[in-house]
Amino acid sequence: MCGIVGFTGAAQAAPILLDGLAKLEYRGYDSAGLAVQNAAGKIEVVKAKGRLKVLHEMTDGGNAVPGSCGIGHTRWATHGEPSVVNAHPHYSRDQKIAVVHNGIIENYLEIKERLVNRGYTFVSQTDTEVVAQLLDYYYTGESAGDALDAISRMMLHVRGSYALGILFADQPGTLYAVRKDSPLIVGQCENGSIIASDVPALLKYTRTVYYIDNLEIARLTPDSIEFFNIDKEPVSHETTTIEWDAEAAEKGGYEHFMMKEIHEQPAAVRDTISPRLKDGKIDLSELALDEEAIRTVRRVYIIGCGSAYHVGMAARYVFESLARLPVEVDVASEFRYRNPVLEKDSLALVISQSGETADTLAALRLCKERGVRTIGIVNVVGSSIAREADATMYTWAGPEISVATTKAYSTQLAACYLLATEFARVRGTLVDGQYENLVAEMEALPDKIEKILADKERIQWFASKYANAKDAFFIGRGLDYATALEGSLKFKEISYIHSEAFAAGEMKHGPISLVENGTLVVGILTQPDLFEKSVSNMVEVKSRGAFLMGLTTYGNYSIEDTAGFTVYVPKTDPHFATSLAVIPLQLLAYYVSCAKGLDVDKPRNLAKSVTVE
Ligand code: F6R
Repeated sequence: MCGIVGFTGAAQAAPILLDGLAKLEYRGYDSAGLAVQNAAGKIEVVKAKGRLKVLHEMTDGGNAVPGSCGIGHTRWATHGEPSVVNAHPHYSRDQKIAVVHNGIIENYLEIKERLVNRGYTFVSQTDTEVVAQLLDYYYTGESAGDALDAISRMMLHVRGSYALGILFADQPGTLYAVRKDSPLIVGQCENGSIIASDVPALLKYTRTVYYIDNLEIARLTPDSIEFFNIDKEPVSHETTTIEWDAEAAEKGGYEHFMMKEIHEQPAAVRDTISPRLKDGKIDLSELALDEEAIRTVRRVYIIGCGSAYHVGMAARYVFESLARLPVEVDVASEFRYRNPVLEKDSLALVISQSGETADTLAALRLCKERGVRTIGIVNVVGSSIAREADATMYTWAGPEISVATTKAYSTQLAACYLLATEFARVRGTLVDGQYENLVAEMEALPDKIEKILADKERIQWFASKYANAKDAFFIGRGLDYATALEGSLKFKEISYIHSEAFAAGEMKHGPISLVENGTLVVGILTQPDLFEKSVSNMVEVKSRGAFLMGLTTYGNYSIEDTAGFTVYVPKTDPHFATSLAVIPLQLLAYYVSCAKGLDVDKPRNLAKSVTVE
């Protein structure tokens, strides 16, 4: 959802900005731009439609835009189509003030109208341009103030969400940054000061960062960083050290980030589970959730978007089956507006890789307002959800760059297993030896994922045969339905093949009419008690002409009587089967996308971090 960077220091800014934007391109990639203060005291702006490489070529890797203080942007269009004129930076008249923005200014039309009445002209269809013009009004208009004053007055007038990088032509070497509900990190590096929307853009330059709070302003010069609140009073911030190393945000020999991240899943799942197991017991002390607190929980809400929601769908089965607690799972954008009835003694698990998804953050805030205790299951350290949740359980997946999530999804599942199993122990809902067995099975998951990855060529072969498919359906019952939802999303988002997931038992209530000769139907059958029933549903679609891919556990060889192609995964406790079954589905989506020659890591129309609702 747009990436912003800024740099001021003892080096040429543009190459650093382009380098940072390359790490943020996953956030948006329909246009990009730079603004740099030059020696003549002017701001030079260069913008290009299309991928960052167009801007890179246009500016000779940044060398054609000299100057040591600048801002940059990579865009995912919200207001105004992707075009040069709508690309950021946006600027005020005579290019005196330039702005890059991530977020949405909700009242931009109203502000625009007021400024037009005062003689301002606008060139773009964006909401961002009003920020540049409004700053100009407060900086140079009738009751002009200084830069801090202008920024704080602008913040009082705009509604919505924003992370902004701001340059003033008459303030050489000074860069301003502000945020409200959109991510922004500030870092001090060896040769200057830097801002970015996300950690990967900074890693090459520094690991020591500051997180700006909502409605705060940062003023950066080459050797100083100061923070102010909206009343222009100085505030201080502690630094945070980012543990991710720079290599973690590179492709490391893989052709695509997605494949690298698929292969990082054994380590990521291990890193999420192991630190929370002490002497064979689950330790959730980081959440300050003692046995007494667990016993008071009467209901669990799980909220997320996209794949994070699918984790919730799987976790519901696990929680309800193991801990015998009622669970409600919601898509965050629905939850926040349906005025939900929230019970007091309940717990909300708010799941998000980025920790910045606008709807998920709003859902978290709603839970807190209504007195529901919240736990964030979050990957990005220091992100908004991590900071605002009552407690945070980090998924130690490391930076996830590919737009389609894989390793973050797997670690979110692992975090839910730990919670569900611990709740079950405390609530006394497990039979003798079950707890120890569940813990052992959890610990064994990384090796089993490794084993599935070792056999990926078979899936590559199968994918090449289905690259031209028109439709695909993923079906399953119980937990396998939750897995089908994720398999189908992964498939459609990177292969652009229409795909849907259905509870297998629902097929004959309508969807089966879509099945034609050769339609690909992927049946997931990891749940022993539902195996026979799912096979029957597969037979039903087969007799209407479907081609069946079966996905089941070793030993269920009878599936070959029904399915045309079968993938086996190792046995585990059925509650954890999603963690294994999802791996071949990720690989299937990946290989189909590659076979079609698509941009696997940056599928069209999508962005990694959805910071607008
Ligand atoms: C799909 C995918 C998305 C995200 C969703 C939520 O592959 O990645 O569906 O899961 O946008 O994002 P986070 O987890 O950052 O809140």
